[in-house]
Amino acid sequence: KRANRPVGAPDKTLAKKVTKVGIIGAGLMASQFALLFVRKLRVPVLITDLDQTRVDKGVAYIHDEIGKLEAKGRLDGDSANQLRALVTGTTDKSLYADCDFVIEAVFEEVGVKQAVFAEIEPIIADDAILATNTSSLSVEEIGAKLAHPERLVGFHFFNPVAVMPLIEIVKTQETSDAALSTAFVVAKGLGKNAVLTADAPGFVVNRLLAKVMGEAARAVYEGTPVADVEKAFAPLGLPMGPFQLIDLVGWKVAAHVQDTMAHAFPDRFYSNENFHQLAELPQVVEKDKGGRVTGFTKDAQK
Ligand code: CAA
Repeated sequence: KRANRPVGAPDKTLAKKVTKVGIIGAGLMASQFALLFVRKLRVPVLITDLDQTRVDKGVAYIHDEIGKLEAKGRLDGDSANQLRALVTGTTDKSLYADCDFVIEAVFEEVGVKQAVFAEIEPIIADDAILATNTSSLSVEEIGAKLAHPERLVGFHFFNPVAVMPLIEIVKTQETSDAALSTAFVVAKGLGKNAVLTADAPGFVVNRLLAKVMGEAARAVYEGTPVADVEKAFAPLGLPMGPFQLIDLVGWKVAAHVQDTMAHAFPDRFYSNENFHQLAELPQVVEKDKGGRVTGFTKDAQK
C-alpha cells in the first residue's frame, strides 16, 4: 500500500475531508479549476473576486464550459444543471466561513497574495487548508503573514486545466502533514497526477519552461523567424512550440515567470529583455502569421 503513495505524500488518513471549496480570484486559471472542482469533487464551490463584474465573467466562463460539455453529450441536462448549481459567485468573503479548502489564484505578486490570505484567514475555520496556485513565487513568503502558516500548501495547476494531467504540490518548511495530505487527496480526486516539489522559484516545470520560452525569444532576436522556431520544435514531439505555449498561458504570465526566474537565479536566467521586447513588436508576429502564434501580442490577455 505504502508503495502506491506518491513520493513525499503523507498518510492519506491525515487528509481533511473537503466538503466545500473556496476560490479566491475569478480569472482564467481560477475559473478553469473551479469547473474541475465541481465536475470531479461534486462539492459546492465559492468563487470571489474584487468586483461583481469579474465574478460574473468567471461564472459565465464556467457555465459556458458546462454548456459545451452538455452539447458534446458528456453531461446530460440534469447533471449540467446540478454542476451549475454548485457554483456560487460572490464578492461576499464571509461565505468562506464553511470552506475547508481555499485556493487563491490572484495576481502574481507576493504582497497581493499575502493580503488576500490576511483577509480570509480570520473568516475560515481553524483547521481549514489554504492553497496557492502560484506558478513561481515562494509559497513560504506568501504564507509569512498567516497566523497559521502550517496550513498553507502550494497547489499549482497547468493550462489548460481540464487536460493537463499535472499538479505541482509545494511544501514549505512549515506545511503540516494534514495540509500536504489533503492536497494530495484533492489532487487525486481531481484526476490529476501530483508531484511534490521543494519551495524553490519556478518549482520544477516553470523553471524548464522559462528556459525554453526565454531562449526561443532570444533566437527570434538573433534573426530566426517565429514560425521557424516553432517548426524546429515540432520533431521534439512536444504538443506545442514555445510561442504557441506563450500564447496559451498568456504573455503577461509568461513574462512574469521570466522576471521571477531572472530575479531568483541571475547566474542562470537573464533578465530577459528580448522576451519583453518581442511583445512590443507586433511585426515580429505579423510577418510570421500562422497558427495561434498570431495571437501573441501584449494585449492577448486583455
Ligand atoms: N480548455 C479545455 N479543454 C481543452 C482546452 C482548453 N483550453 N484546449 C484543449 N482542450 C481539450 C479539447 O477539448 C480536447 O478534448 P477532447 O479530446 O476530450 O475533446 C483535448 O483538449 C485536445 O484538444 P485539441 O484536439 O483541440 O488540441 P490538441 O490535441 O492540439 O491539444 C493541448 C491541445 C491539450 C492544449 C496540447 O496542445 C497541449 O498539451 N499543449 C501543451 C500545454 C502545456 O504545456 N501547458 C502548460 C503550460 S505552463 C503553465 O500552465 C504553467 C504556468 O504556471 C504558466
